[in-house]
Amino acid sequence: MRPYELTCEGQVNPLGIDELSPRFAWKIPLLRRGIRQTAYQIVAESEGKILWDSGKVDSPQSIEVEYCGLPLKTRQKVYWRVRFWDESGKVSDYSETAWFQMGLLNPSDWRGKWIETGIIGGARVTAPAPYLRKPFQVKKPVASAELYITALGLYLASINGRSIGDEVFAPGWTDYHCRVQYQVYDVTSHLQFGENVLGVVLGDGWYCGHIANMDRQQYGDRPRLLAQLMIQYMDGSFEIVPTDETWRYTSGPILESDLIMGESYDARLEMSGWDTPGWNDTGWFPVHTVQLSSLNLVARKNPPVRRQEVLRPVQEPVELREWNRSRWIFDLGQNMVGVIRLRVKGERGRTIRIRYSEVLNPDGSLYTQSLRSARATDYYTLKGGEEEIFEPHFTFHGFRYVELTGFPGVPTRENIEGVVLHSDTPISGTFICSDPFLNQLQHNIEWSQKGNFIEVPTDCPQRDERLGWTGDAQVFIRTATFNRNVSRFFEKWMQDFADAQSSSGAIPPVVPKVFAFGQLEDGGPAWADAVLICPWTIYQVYGNRRILERYYPVFQKFIEYLKNTSVGWIRSHPDWVDQGNFPGFGDWLAQDGSGKVDGGTPKDLIATAFFAHSARLMAKIARCLGKSKDEQVYHTMFEKIREAFNRRFVTEDGLIVGRTQTAYVLALSFDLLSETLQEKALEELLRDIRQRDWHLSTGFVGTPYLLWTLTKFGKAKEAWKLLTQRTMPSWLYPVLHGATTIWERWDGWTEEKGFQDPEMNSFNHYAYGSVGAWMVSMIGGLDFDPEYPGYRHILMKPLPDIELDFASVDYQTPYGKVVSRWQKDDRHCWKWQVTIPPSTCATAWLPEAVGKEVLESGVPLPAVEMIEWLGEEGDAVKIRIPAGNYEFCW
Ligand code: BGC
Repeated sequence: MRPYELTCEGQVNPLGIDELSPRFAWKIPLLRRGIRQTAYQIVAESEGKILWDSGKVDSPQSIEVEYCGLPLKTRQKVYWRVRFWDESGKVSDYSETAWFQMGLLNPSDWRGKWIETGIIGGARVTAPAPYLRKPFQVKKPVASAELYITALGLYLASINGRSIGDEVFAPGWTDYHCRVQYQVYDVTSHLQFGENVLGVVLGDGWYCGHIANMDRQQYGDRPRLLAQLMIQYMDGSFEIVPTDETWRYTSGPILESDLIMGESYDARLEMSGWDTPGWNDTGWFPVHTVQLSSLNLVARKNPPVRRQEVLRPVQEPVELREWNRSRWIFDLGQNMVGVIRLRVKGERGRTIRIRYSEVLNPDGSLYTQSLRSARATDYYTLKGGEEEIFEPHFTFHGFRYVELTGFPGVPTRENIEGVVLHSDTPISGTFICSDPFLNQLQHNIEWSQKGNFIEVPTDCPQRDERLGWTGDAQVFIRTATFNRNVSRFFEKWMQDFADAQSSSGAIPPVVPKVFAFGQLEDGGPAWADAVLICPWTIYQVYGNRRILERYYPVFQKFIEYLKNTSVGWIRSHPDWVDQGNFPGFGDWLAQDGSGKVDGGTPKDLIATAFFAHSARLMAKIARCLGKSKDEQVYHTMFEKIREAFNRRFVTEDGLIVGRTQTAYVLALSFDLLSETLQEKALEELLRDIRQRDWHLSTGFVGTPYLLWTLTKFGKAKEAWKLLTQRTMPSWLYPVLHGATTIWERWDGWTEEKGFQDPEMNSFNHYAYGSVGAWMVSMIGGLDFDPEYPGYRHILMKPLPDIELDFASVDYQTPYGKVVSRWQKDDRHCWKWQVTIPPSTCATAWLPEAVGKEVLESGVPLPAVEMIEWLGEEGDAVKIRIPAGNYEFCW
C-alpha cells in the first residue's frame, strides 16, 4: 500500500519549472471499499538536505498540495516522496521517489544573448528557414548537460545530428510582445568527447509568419534564438555554451515554411552533416545579437504539441486527369490536423505539389474555397536516388483529403501517411453507448478537440484563422475536460488572458491578442466572459484553486469593466453601442429564422444575461477564496443585473424579448427568472421547439445550455428528442452525412444547397461539440458536484427515459478512475457497474428502482455495508457510495 502516479505541477518529474511553490499530487490505490486518505506526509530533499518535511498533515487532500519548504533556487533538483494514512489510521509505505527541477528563475541566469540572422521576408513574402550552428569542445568527462532554449518563432534543435526532444512548434504561442516560454532538455547523452555541434533550424511560426488573414511579421520581422547549454563536468567544473556572436548561419532546403501557407522544401539543398563536427562552415555568415530585455522568459506551462498518431489512406488514390498531368487524391478517412509524411522515389529536380482539403467537390476534386487566403500547400523537390521521405517542419493543415500533383509515376496508398499533431493533453475519458450515431458524434467531438488544441484552443485549424477565439473555448471547455486532461493547457491560456487584458479591463475576442478582424479591444458577451468561465470550470473539474487565486485581479478588472460600460446594468446597451462600441457576436450562427450570422437574439439581452452569469461566477469565486466581502458585492451585483434583465426583457407572461430559444435558454439557465416566470418561459421554449418540429434553433451562445436547461426543468425526454433529431439543424445531421469532426455550422453542407458560404464554413469547429458534456452526464450518468471540486464528490444519475440499451463512461478524476457502465433490457431490468475512486464518494440515483429489489454483487442493498440509503426521488433510489467497485442489479 503506497501512493502512486506522483506529479508535480501536473507532470511526472518535470524538468524546468518556475513555480516557487510547486503543487504536488498523488493517487492512492483502490485496495478496498471505502479506502480514503486521512493524512499525508511529504518529504522533499535536495543534495542530501531536507528542504521540507510536512510532518503528518491531517487532510484528505492528495491534489494541489503546495510545497511549503525552504525557498527553491535556480536549477535546483528536488526529490520528494509521500505516504498517507488511511481511514483506519494505518500508515502506508512511502511512494517511490519523484523529482522536479527548477528552471532559470532570474533574468541574470540567462547567459545567452538573443541572436538573429539576415534572412527577412516581407509582409506577404515568405523567407527561407535559417540554419544555425555552434561547434564547441568537450574535453572532460561530462556528468550532466542541459539545454535551455527558446525562440521567437519556432525552433528544431539538434546536437551532433541527433534531434533534441520531440516537441513540435516549440516554444509555443504566447504574446511575444511580453512573454515567451522556454524549454529545458536533458542532453547528457547527446554529448561526445572532443568536438560537438549544437544546431538549430528556425521557423517563422506565429512570431513572424502569417497569422489568420493578416500579413506576416505581426510580432517581429524574423525569427530569433536564445539558448544556453549548461555542462556539468565530473570534476565539478561547469561550462556554458550560450547563443552569442560566434554562432554562424546559412539557409538550407526549407525555402519557406508558414503555419497558414505551407512549406516548400528543396531536398537538393540539404546539407547532410551540417549539425555534426567537421562540417566546413566557412561560407556561413555570422549572426547578429539583439537586446530584448523587456521580454519575459517563463518556463513552459502547457503540454507541448507532439506527433500523436499516424493515419493511413483508406483506399488507393484516385486519379483526376488533366490535359498534361494527373492529380492524385488520397482519402485518410478522417478529418485531421497535422502534416503528411510523403514517401517518393524519382528523378532529381522534380517538384511535387501537395494540397489539402477537408471535403471534396462533387467531381472528386479538393474543395478549397473555404480555406480563404490560406494557401495550405506544400512543395517538395526531389534530390533523386533512393526513396525520399518528406514531413514538413513548421506548418500544419486541417484535412482529410490530400492531393499530389507531379508525382513520378502512379502512387499507391503507401506513399503518404497523415501525422496527427496536437497539444499532448492526456486522454482522460471515454464514452460509448448503444447508439452508433451518438458514438460517431462523440468521435467527432474528440477529433475536433484534437485538431483545435494546438498550443491554444482555436476556432478552426484549416482556413486563414486558427485563433484563440474566447467564445468558442468557453462553450466547449466543459466537454474538453472530459475527453482529456486540459488543466495545464488552460492554465497557460489564462496567462495569455492576463497578457491580453486591456488597461480598461476589457478582454479581446481572441487570446493571445492579435489584431485580426476589426481590432476589437472587447470580445463582447459570451466571448470575453471566457476569462471567468474557463478558470471556473478548470477549478471545478480539477480542484485547481491556484488558477482562481492567481488571476483574481484579472477577473475583478474585467467585472469592473462590465460595470463601467453597462448602462443601468444593461450590458451592450444601445446608448453605449451608439458611441461606436461593439455589442458582441450575438448568438453566432444560430438557425433561428433571422437570416443573420449573428442570429435574432437581441445582443443587449445576451450581454446582460452573461453579465449576470459572470457576476454570479465572481461571487462563487470570491466565496471559494474566502473573500466574503467581495462575495457579497458580486452577489448584490448579480441581483441588480437580474432585476434590470427582467425589467427590460421579460414580460409578465414570461415572454422574453426576441422570443428565440437562446433568449429563453439563457434566462432559464442563468436563473434570471422568478419561479412563476420560469414555468411560463419553459412553456414558450417548448412551444418554439415544437413549432420547429422538434428542432433547435440556437447558435454558439445558446446551444451549450439548451439540453441542460431542458433537463434541469424536467424535460429530459424533450432534450433526448433534440439530441437524436436527424434532420437539420441537429447534431446528427452532419453525422448522417459522413462528418468525422464537428462542423462550424448546422448547415455547412445540405442536400438542397450543397456547401454553405465559403467565406465561413469550417468542417472542424468544436463549438457545437459542447453537447458532449451533456451526453456524459445524462447518458453516461457521470458528473462532478460543483460543491466539491476535483470530483471529490461524484454525481451519478443516468437518465431513464432514453432509448438506449447501454452506456459506458470511464474517466480519470484527479483521485483515480471512475466508471459508470449501465445496461437495461426490454423489461427494464438494469445492471450498473460502478467504480468510485479512493478518497472520494458518490451519490447515485438508480433509475426506475423504486419498488424493486436492488442487489449489489448479489446481496440485497439494505444489507450491503458502507452503502447508505438516502431515500427515493421520483422513481429513482438514491444512495451514497464510498470508493470501491460495485455491481448493481434491479
Ligand atoms: C470564428 C469563430 C468565432 C467567430 C466570432 C469566426 O470567424 O471562426 O468561431 O467565434 O468568428 O464571431
